[in-house]
Amino acid sequence: MFRRRPEARPAPGDRLVEVFVAGQPVRVPEGASAAAAVLLSGAPAIRTTPVNGAPRLPYCMIGICFDCLAEIDGVANRQSCLVPVAAGMRIELQVGARAARIEDAA
Ligand code: FES
Repeated sequence: MFRRRPEARPAPGDRLVEVFVAGQPVRVPEGASAAAAVLLSGAPAIRTTPVNGAPRLPYCMIGICFDCLAEIDGVANRQSCLVPVAAGMRIELQVGARAARIEDAA
């Protein structure tokens, strides 16, 4: 569905941070979203749907579609397009529906 454009590389002088997408290290520009890290990683999906298990990747990148739901640093149901990366962040595949925990609410 998504392909990286050849010219879509960090610009000279960009500060990069390393995050982990499904356990694989990815270097992304500081200030990018976790969803951008997912797309840069080339992962085939970041979540599967609860109804039929269809794979999903970030789509709208503005918090509307919810196709970017992921487990980020152990917290499920995060909209990864709204979460800026931080060094060492762990972004994991979210399979189906996950329970919401009140203690995760910020
Ligand atoms: S990509 Fe659509 S809500 Fe995050």
